[in-house]
Amino acid sequence: MMSKDYLDSLFSLRGQVAVVIGGTGVLGGALCEGFARAGAFVVVAGRSVERGDACVETIQMFEGTAGFLSVDVTSRESIQKLHDVTISKHGQVDILVNCAGVNSAAPYKDTRDEDWQRVLEANLTATHWGCQIFGSSMSSQAEGGSILNIGSVTSHLPLSRVFAYSASKAAVVNLTQNVAREFASHGVRVNALCPGFFPAEQNRKILDSDRVGSIMEQTPMARFGEPKELVGAALLLTSRVAGSFITGASVYVDGGFTGMRF
Ligand SMILES: NC(=O)c1ccc[n+]([C@@H]2O[C@H](COP(=O)([O-])OP(=O)(O)OC[C@H]3O[C@@H](n4cnc5c(N)ncnc54)[C@H](O)[C@@H]3O)[C@@H](O)[C@H]2O)c1
Repeated sequence: MMSKDYLDSLFSLRGQVAVVIGGTGVLGGALCEGFARAGAFVVVAGRSVERGDACVETIQMFEGTAGFLSVDVTSRESIQKLHDVTISKHGQVDILVNCAGVNSAAPYKDTRDEDWQRVLEANLTATHWGCQIFGSSMSSQAEGGSILNIGSVTSHLPLSRVFAYSASKAAVVNLTQNVAREFASHGVRVNALCPGFFPAEQNRKILDSDRVGSIMEQTPMARFGEPKELVGAALLLTSRVAGSFITGASVYVDGGFTGMRF
């Protein structure tokens, strides 16, 4: 097999349906585009119709296929509805990405209960609901499926000032491993992609100049990531050929941040 066909056989998502919850965001949008370029039909799911439609238009500009569906991840019923509508429209879901997320920064003693709960619900409980609802349905498909949860470098190391966020992302990795074991015999793989620092909406207020300075000092590559730099790892983890024996894994795409120790 020549190299182009060989790469295609490893990574092509042609004929597959990928749902990206939080596809309306900066990193989710890049993943939507990457999955569409690899041949999948992409369901861009999120709260903002405007951003969702913009993502769909970008994909259609390169003749990719995509559609927007609305979801609020703080509601189990809303995630169930997203699943049901996708199945009724497309007949299957091969890939789910749990990429919605929120953040909140404060000194620990000032961390408010309502912020703690908001962050835990959107980052952790919603990921659990996505895994449970979509994973159960993938389990009954002949081809199984693949779930990609979005962790963070703080899944591995606590980050100051973002206590709820750090706890939620550490738990996302733990949940990923546990759910991977649960679904392994049903043909459903579950992995975590853990980005380093990528300027986006949810962290705009947190990345002040002092914090950026310390991030750069601890990042061997000394720069932020670009959203499209997540796509290769996402394709590896979700491809049923290239990633066929990968489950319960956490892949860090962070310019070396988690490898650093002073
Ligand atoms: N940007 C980074 O540096 C970075 C690093 C590590 C992990 N992450 C994670 O990547 C994911 C994507 O974040 P991003 O950085 O692209 O930020 P973003 O703010 O651009 O995207 C987050 C998306 O989640 C959506 N969302 C939030 N609450 C929701 C809800 N209740 N229902 C539906 N959608 C909701 C937002 O509308 C937005 O589209 C998050 O899980 C985030 O924690 C980001």
